[in-house]
Amino acid sequence: MIRVAVSGAGQMGRLVLDTVEAQADMQAVGVLEPMGAADPEHRLTSGTVLGVHADPGTLFEVARPDVVVDFTNAAFTPALVDAALEHGVRLVIGTSGVGAEVIERLRRGCAEAGRGSVYAANFAIGSVLQMYMATIAARYFDSAEIIELHHDRKVDSPSGTSLATARLMRDARGSDFVTNTPSLEHLEGARGASWGGVPIHSVRLPGFVASQEVIFGGTGQTLTLRHDSTGRDSFMPGVVLAIREVMQRDHLVVGLEGLVGLG
Ligand SMILES: NC(=O)c1ccc[n+]([C@@H]2O[C@H](COP(=O)([O-])OP(=O)(O)OC[C@H]3O[C@@H](n4cnc5c(N)ncnc54)[C@H](O)[C@@H]3O)[C@@H](O)[C@H]2O)c1
Repeated sequence: MIRVAVSGAGQMGRLVLDTVEAQADMQAVGVLEPMGAADPEHRLTSGTVLGVHADPGTLFEVARPDVVVDFTNAAFTPALVDAALEHGVRLVIGTSGVGAEVIERLRRGCAEAGRGSVYAANFAIGSVLQMYMATIAARYFDSAEIIELHHDRKVDSPSGTSLATARLMRDARGSDFVTNTPSLEHLEGARGASWGGVPIHSVRLPGFVASQEVIFGGTGQTLTLRHDSTGRDSFMPGVVLAIREVMQRDHLVVGLEGLVGLG
């Protein structure tokens, strides 16, 4: 049995706990709620009751997880990475916007200890396929824009997935995309943010979960790649795969693509 703790008892964290508990080879063993929980216990849909801790060290000592799954906030994840490395706990991180230096620290720590971990900006396989296809199209189109659409409680903009997509597209092309820069801007920011010549537009509205459109423009044609996560359950197969894989691997894997043969 893989012993799994979850960091962050928000919408993703709660779903991960119930998903883990439903797997024959996994057991949910504890919850970390760094912001402090109203209740010291968390009841799973199965009825199992888990202790809720505010501090990673206490969670690791009391619950003794093999793996900790993190869906919190980029301001907190670095502290969890340090504590997990110190306690020999493998990490599966889904939190958006975690800094490159933190990922590098995790990469070094995993390599030194010979332990697996996964960081993925998006655990939905359709999104990973969209990014992969975008890297192919990037070689044939000079201009592209991204529209990412998320629920109105999302704290960061643009999404980690849109930044990762723009980075992969720019890397595949080898140079910045060609973009229209308005000589007359009636409203500041009308062309969105930009990375590698790819304007990124962030929509935040109730009703969306996570969607992304990558639009390529060329002579007399456009190509649109669109992915929609219509529910948070779209991320669960990827999270479950990552939990199993970190037990087998001896290094950090960045991106779900590295686990499904697209890396
Ligand atoms: N990688 C993916 O596929 C994927 C999918 C969905 C969401 N996400 C990301 O996962 C994270 C959580 O998403 P959610 O929808 O569950 O959000 P949520 O708001 O429902 O839950 C956030 C959790 O993080 C905790 N938290 C918030 N700020 C914190 C801080 N400063 N320090 C410590 N803990 C803090 C909250 O207490 C809560 O437990 C976000 O970063 C989101 O963008 C990633």
